[in-house]
Order: sequence, then structure tokens, then C-alpha cells
Amino acid sequence: MQVINTLVRESLPNYLTNLPIPDTLMGWFHLGLGDWMKLIPFGVAVGGLSYLTVQGLAQTPVVGPVIQEKLACIVGKKANRVNCQVKMDCPKVVDMVDIEDISEKAVLCRCWKSKKFPYCDGSHAKHNNETGDNVGPVIVKKNN
Ligand code: FES
Repeated sequence: MQVINTLVRESLPNYLTNLPIPDTLMGWFHLGLGDWMKLIPFGVAVGGLSYLTVQGLAQTPVVGPVIQEKLACIVGKKANRVNCQVKMDCPKVVDMVDIEDISEKAVLCRCWKSKKFPYCDGSHAKHNNETGDNVGPVIVKKNN
């Protein structure tokens, strides 16, 4: 405990106090190479913690989708894939179900997790439990 106590009460404040942070905006342009070298570890630590925080929040069910959408707008950053297992070698997955082949109803997958894609095999339940998502199949029913 003594090590943590010293770190929090003495070492960290001393380190932060000695950082060459200028008083004015223009002061940043007058920093020397040595000053920038002192700021690099601090910048890496703050940037790394910020990155990890955003990545962690992006996986939460409430704010996660909003953050992922915002991250997708960053140039060069792609949004997460929906399909991670079905016909991965195809540029676009297109399936056709002949209406005449449907006896009474067809249950079609919308979560992309089914081993019987394009048909639902119930894998969406596991996906929903693991992620907090609420996806389910579309049921195509024949009128009699
Ligand atoms: Fe994908 Fe049921 S397995 S919706």
C-alpha cells in the first residue's frame, strides 16, 4: 500500500507539475525538443486510455451502437462486418428461395449466424444472449 500511496500522493503530482505545458496557446510553438520528449509519455498514456475507453464503450448495448456509428464516420475506419461466416469468398451474398418450394412457411435468418443460411437455425438466440442484440428471423408464410 505504501508504494501506491507514494505514487498517487507524491510521484504522480510531481510528474504532472513538471510537465512543460505552456500557459498560452502560442506557447506550444515555443516548446523545445526536450519539452516535447517529456510530453510524449503523458500523451501516449492519455491517448491510450482514451482509446481503450472508447473501444470499451463501443461494445456496450446502450451507447455502443451510437459510438460505432460515429467511429464509422472517421476516414479510413470501416464499420464492423455483419456477415462473418456465410460465403465469405463471395463479393455479395444473394440467396433465392422459390416460393413454390415453401410448403407452409419458411423461417429466414437475419442475424447471419445460422449454419443453414439463408434459413434460421436458432443461432440468433445465442447471439442475442452474448451481445444484448434483439435480432430474429423473418417468417414467410404461405396463404392457404
Ligand atoms: Fe439467424 Fe435465426 S439464426 S435469425
